[in-house]
Amino acid sequence: MSNRIVIFDTTLRDGEQSPGASMNAAEKLRLAIQLEKLGVDAMEAGFPAASPGDFEAVKLIAGKIKKCQVTALARASKEDIDLAWGAIKDAVNPRIHTFIATSDIHLEHKLRMTRDEVVEATIEAVRHAKSFTDNVEFSAEDGSRSDPDYLCRVFGAAIEAGATTVNLPDTVGYAVPDEFGRLVAYVRENTPNMDRTVLSIHCHNDLGLATANTLAGLEAGARQAEVTINGIGERAGNTSLEEVAMSLFTRREHLQLETNLDTREIYPTSRLVSMVTGIVVQPNKAIVGANAFAHEAGIHQDGVLKNKMTYEIMEPETVGLKSNRMVIGKHSGRHAFKQKLTDMGYEIDGDDLNRLFDRFKELADKRKEILDEDIEVLVAEEILRVPSRFQLEYLNVVSGTVAVPTATVKLRIDGEEAQSAGFGVGPIDATFNTIAKMTGTHSSLLRFSVTAISGGMDAQGEVTVRLKENGVVALGKGADPDIITASAKAFIHGLNRLEYLKQNPRLSLNESAL
Ligand code: KIV
Ligand code: ZN
Repeated sequence: MSNRIVIFDTTLRDGEQSPGASMNAAEKLRLAIQLEKLGVDAMEAGFPAASPGDFEAVKLIAGKIKKCQVTALARASKEDIDLAWGAIKDAVNPRIHTFIATSDIHLEHKLRMTRDEVVEATIEAVRHAKSFTDNVEFSAEDGSRSDPDYLCRVFGAAIEAGATTVNLPDTVGYAVPDEFGRLVAYVRENTPNMDRTVLSIHCHNDLGLATANTLAGLEAGARQAEVTINGIGERAGNTSLEEVAMSLFTRREHLQLETNLDTREIYPTSRLVSMVTGIVVQPNKAIVGANAFAHEAGIHQDGVLKNKMTYEIMEPETVGLKSNRMVIGKHSGRHAFKQKLTDMGYEIDGDDLNRLFDRFKELADKRKEILDEDIEVLVAEEILRVPSRFQLEYLNVVSGTVAVPTATVKLRIDGEEAQSAGFGVGPIDATFNTIAKMTGTHSSLLRFSVTAISGGMDAQGEVTVRLKENGVVALGKGADPDIITASAKAFIHGLNRLEYLKQNPRLSLNESAL
């Protein structure tokens, strides 16, 4: 058996099912390009039957991605499969991924179908998908809670109908590693013609066991792992790509399994996913958390200084974290700034560079030292830049234990100056209320998060908001040493993006209905 593991990334589909994580087509495309750079073998670009927006996003990605397989999800129905194919038919390497549930709980309560009917639906769906492309994946939803012999029967029927990959999901994150490994081994041994297909696994993290279950499945002979960046996904998420990738890499002598991933792209991909979804990575998250390579205890620091191997099992550089940071500040010139961007992997020139440099100088006047994270925020804001109807000119906020929180805001709206004041339950609420009143917008706030970009009392606060108005969802980001100003910037950025998306509906966001 080959020791090469196919990495199937589903950040753009299952990952997008994380509450509040929906991305627009342009954001998805940017992420798809980065996933290709990371070296995933297949990416699930979306679920075209979920909405016209999802269809468009998958089509856009399918037209741009050249090396990696582009997959679209479809229920086991002719209509879904037609839509999936319609969205990916121009891809260089398209794959249709069709699924139906196989557990008795789902058959009885959700599908209201008999076991025989599900087998029939499987055969029809795979045959129909096969009429478009040779590359067809079939998933048995809730596979880990299905009767193993029935699972083998369904997989056997799917393979007979032409499935080239069969996927065993732990849809509700119920499995434990030794049991899941045994199930994978059982399915391998007892499914007719299993040698004609790739056996895949897809785990969810409800018990925090997704990575352990995935590794157990691979050790038991599965050869495709379905994963997401930062482990985002439905409920507690999916198996995290970076954890599987670095387990396979760090323990390669023990596990003897390989991937095509360029592990140095892990950290940049993680940052990009966090940026476009607004989902902050927990500091102690394995591999990509801010503390993943930080040594706090004196005894550990002493050990690492003497020999890194005492407490470090991976080199930070392997996942794309730079250790020799060139520090730049207010005395750095344009050349040093450009060099810094290049070192961080950003090729930015011309007007974009000038604009970024001006913003860097503004920040450097306020802070002694500018860290890579600060620059990432500036770059992120530029990447997410859209034409600005609304611009912040001035903000003054009064709040405290006795004052009624009041915000006075001056904006430029379509080039005209406007000023107003308003109240709220706190300073941020007062600011948002005033800005909403002045711009005549009625968005609801889906997500609001503040993170300190770097340590210390003069750290920049980075605020992320997700706004929704008339079914359109937009992300806004703002950074400033003052978190109320950062919040105002993020809110205005989000409102500008909402305006832009409303006028460009093809780029608009959608909420998957799976
Ligand atoms: O978790 C699951 O079962 C899924 C399938 C659609 C593969 O996401
Ligand atoms: Zn899933």
